[in-house]
Amino acid sequence: MQKSFLVEPAFKYKKSFLKAMAEVQSDSQNNSFDSTASATMFEKKLNLHDLNDDSVFKSFLKKIKAKANLKKTFWLINKKESGEETFIGRVRIRQALDKDEKFILGHIGYLIRPSMRGLGYGNLILRLALKKAKKIVTDLNINQDQVLLACKATNLASKKIILNNGGVLSKEIDLGKSGRELLFWIKL
Ligand SMILES: CC(C)(COP(=O)(O)OP(=O)(O)OC[C@H]1O[C@@H](n2cnc3c(N)ncnc32)[C@H](O)[C@@H]1OP(=O)(O)O)[C@@H](O)C(=O)NCCC(=O)NCCS
Repeated sequence: MQKSFLVEPAFKYKKSFLKAMAEVQSDSQNNSFDSTASATMFEKKLNLHDLNDDSVFKSFLKKIKAKANLKKTFWLINKKESGEETFIGRVRIRQALDKDEKFILGHIGYLIRPSMRGLGYGNLILRLALKKAKKIVTDLNINQDQVLLACKATNLASKKIILNNGGVLSKEIDLGKSGRELLFWIKL
């Protein structure tokens, strides 16, 4: 039987992670219209050639863990009965609402590697992230019982994932040329 779970980023997933990031980068090159542009910005900028070096990869892991009190990153891993582990996707849980140049980022942002999409992992990664978020607010004694999620109106898969996990639409924002952004609240 296979198992899928969230873990903190770790060196042992390097090979699988880099393969997944290569998929993300070539997928976005092939998609001239990318409804998820802001969601994959971080991955698109990664220098995969440099990250192949073990020490560069270790510094990269340190960097993504550095601000862990403000933004926690988890990797979704699938483990086969044989013990083989594969990187499936990543999720970030932010304590504060953030904004990049144009987009509201929400409390939780996720990505599934292109070759594993359409298999239910998107629904799963948000379900598991909501449990983590609940644990974080409980452990830190933060008075928060809901999280805000943002997605572009054209990102139908993400919209479904949010709705399937209890999302309630609260606002629609017109971003002009960048389309419309949907904001949802989910109870923890
Ligand atoms: C959005 C994303 C996470 C979806 O991941 P996924 O693993 O394909 O999602 P799932 O297989 O769990 O599918 C989720 C739902 O979307 C539906 N769906 C999948 N692809 C779809 C598409 N292209 N159009 C419409 N619905 C779609 C599925 O049927 C499923 O709905 P259901 O469970 O009610 O049947 C993935 O495409 C991704 O990583 N995109 C880039 C990053 C991104 O956009 N992140 C979200 C930012 S808000």
